[in-house]
Amino acid sequence: MQSSKISESAVLEKSYTRADWQGGYQSLTQEFDYWIDDIEGKIPPELQGTLFRNGPGLLDINGQRIHHPFDGDGMISRISFANGRAHFRNRFVRTEGYLAEQQAGKILYRGVFGTQKPGGWLANIFDFKIKHIANTNVIYWGDKLLALWEAAEPYRLDPYTLETLGKEYFNGVLSAGEAFSAHPRFDPSCDRYGGESCLVNFSIQPGLSTTINIFELNLAGEIVRKHAHSVPGFCFIHDFVITPNYCIFFQNPVNFNPIPFALGIRAAGECIEFQPHQPTRIIVIPRFPQPGQGVKILETQSGFVFHHINAFEVENEIVIDSICYESLPGVEPESDFRQVNFEANAPGHLWRFHLNLQNGNVQRKLIESRCCEFPSINPANVGRPYQYFYIGAAHAEIGNAPLQALLKIDLESGERQLWSAAPRGFIGEPIFVPRPGSHREDDGWVLALVYDAAFHRSDLVILDGSDFSKGAIARLHLKHHIPYGLHGSFTSEVFVPT
Ligand SMILES: [Fe+2]
Repeated sequence: MQSSKISESAVLEKSYTRADWQGGYQSLTQEFDYWIDDIEGKIPPELQGTLFRNGPGLLDINGQRIHHPFDGDGMISRISFANGRAHFRNRFVRTEGYLAEQQAGKILYRGVFGTQKPGGWLANIFDFKIKHIANTNVIYWGDKLLALWEAAEPYRLDPYTLETLGKEYFNGVLSAGEAFSAHPRFDPSCDRYGGESCLVNFSIQPGLSTTINIFELNLAGEIVRKHAHSVPGFCFIHDFVITPNYCIFFQNPVNFNPIPFALGIRAAGECIEFQPHQPTRIIVIPRFPQPGQGVKILETQSGFVFHHINAFEVENEIVIDSICYESLPGVEPESDFRQVNFEANAPGHLWRFHLNLQNGNVQRKLIESRCCEFPSINPANVGRPYQYFYIGAAHAEIGNAPLQALLKIDLESGERQLWSAAPRGFIGEPIFVPRPGSHREDDGWVLALVYDAAFHRSDLVILDGSDFSKGAIARLHLKHHIPYGLHGSFTSEVFVPT
């Protein structure tokens, strides 16, 4: 009987219930437009600007469940702050796939992460069309609001109405169907552009060898540099980091077997196999190559990285902080993501890598063993040495669990501050917004959406970035929930109805 006692106590110790967590994975079909008037605390009057968020708004098509949230249609949420008030609006990105499926009332496309057309393999065999779902990130750059998805071109939206305006090709520099990743990095000050900030992004053309394209965009939103590099092997790369001189990519050790995909048995994402005995390769590409300066490839221990926090250069070294998994969390054809066994999967941990560019040596050390994901830093420190970051984290110190807390880490002192929404709150990616005019790195606010299972609605919480012990300084109750999202961004531009 001892084992049942142990399992009972393990259940009691959980900071959440699965039923509560599942509530955040219900579709939101409605599109709203309102001033938020149900607020606890006070919105700081200095907080002016707009938070944009993207993520799967639909987890089913007219009742037909999609297989994985990453296959869900992109829905943009916008919260604009002006003079101590906040306005909410959400709207789906009208991709071709979204419009076609809404009209048909059923699933018409295969998804990368397991969604298949009804009818078994015969209905899916040799169908290589992938639905552009525009669901991963949303940025405002060069007066353009862009919904990003890593396997294709961005969709441009009207920032006031969130109306879909069409696909964005940057004056023809991007070609039809060409990828533009969902993880651009914003260099706060680039010598090459007279000290102005620029946007650096990439795309992956996978194959037996892989082409990595790098884009640099000026403040006007034009692509001013584009260069391509071929690296050996298949690449599944979701994110990257920049420094003033380099772009750095982690090539996770995976193989891709396309046969089950071609035969309609498995989705493309289910054909990626983690190779635990292969090293992770670290690809270092100069942003502005000097004659004779090529791509460097270094190696470190096997692992899987979705997201990095930041990178910076110190003499001959590049330092990179990343969230690493022991392996690629499997996407199983017959499984239901709502029934995921958190305890059976390895949590994401935070590691610091030191890359010696002279001798190719890579050293790494563990920074944080609490389960964590979705980091954010002060945008002025991107690619530079930094002291603080904010990240979604599990409520408990050990084990794998849904993100219910926000963690602030001081990399110099090692001090941690935790704000938790447990037991009934579930948190998304935090975004740090600097206080206007301040140069103190953690002087600002941390904004995050929290799904509150107690009311089946979402809140926007605002924390003081310099001191989590104050608790939430404002909690804005929305009139509805927002399904768990992916990424977003903040701009100082305000978009509210006039
Ligand atoms: Fe991501």
